[in-house]
Amino acid sequence: MRVPVQEQGGLDPRTMFENAREIWLEIGFGGGEHVSGQAARHPDVGILASEVFIEGVAKLLGQIEDAGLENVRLWEEDAREMVTGLKAGSIDRAFILFPDPWHKVRHHKRRLIQSDFLDDLARVMKPDGRVRFATDVRSYADEALEKFLAHPAFEWTATCADDWRNAPEDHIQTRYQTKNLGDIAPVYYDFLCS
Ligand SMILES: C[S@@+](CC[C@H](N)C(=O)[O-])C[C@H]1O[C@@H](n2cnc3c(N)ncnc32)[C@H](O)[C@@H]1O
Repeated sequence: MRVPVQEQGGLDPRTMFENAREIWLEIGFGGGEHVSGQAARHPDVGILASEVFIEGVAKLLGQIEDAGLENVRLWEEDAREMVTGLKAGSIDRAFILFPDPWHKVRHHKRRLIQSDFLDDLARVMKPDGRVRFATDVRSYADEALEKFLAHPAFEWTATCADDWRNAPEDHIQTRYQTKNLGDIAPVYYDFLCS
């Protein structure tokens, strides 16, 4: 079930899911509720799921076994290594839901959403692929939006405030989200890739 990341940019995820309609990616899945929920709803989609927290990986494995899911593959190391290892234009959808906020200003550089990472993400996304970013931390919401908007590969699809302040219809609530640890109501940014 492990994503066989080996060499830079060489992994075509289609080789793991031969008949998949689309390939999706989730980074930092925590307790795995969103991955397993989406995998159950979309058995014709292959999902690459990454999480460094081993208890989270164990939880998702339990959910996969209980639900008999066959369309999830796991990467239990830094998601950035997996992204680097994927073939260009191989991902249809990516989810980054409530990533670690790193509240202190001097720690903001540890946040996942950095220009270099967005370059890597843009490379692996298909043209017309979609990326969803969610957070409940105001400074991260502002910083991430600024970085996505500054990147030529990502176009924000929101046309009114309800598009980002209401949970999208296809969103599945995550465990972390229910703890309400942030300082704002969750925001959901959907981007279209070019
Ligand atoms: C705040 S939690 C949110 C988890 C989940 N998305 C949710 O909403 O319940 C962020 C998660 O991202 C994971 N994480 C942080 N950096 C990561 C990385 N570079 N690669 C993979 N997972 C990472 C952490 O271990 C943590 O479980």
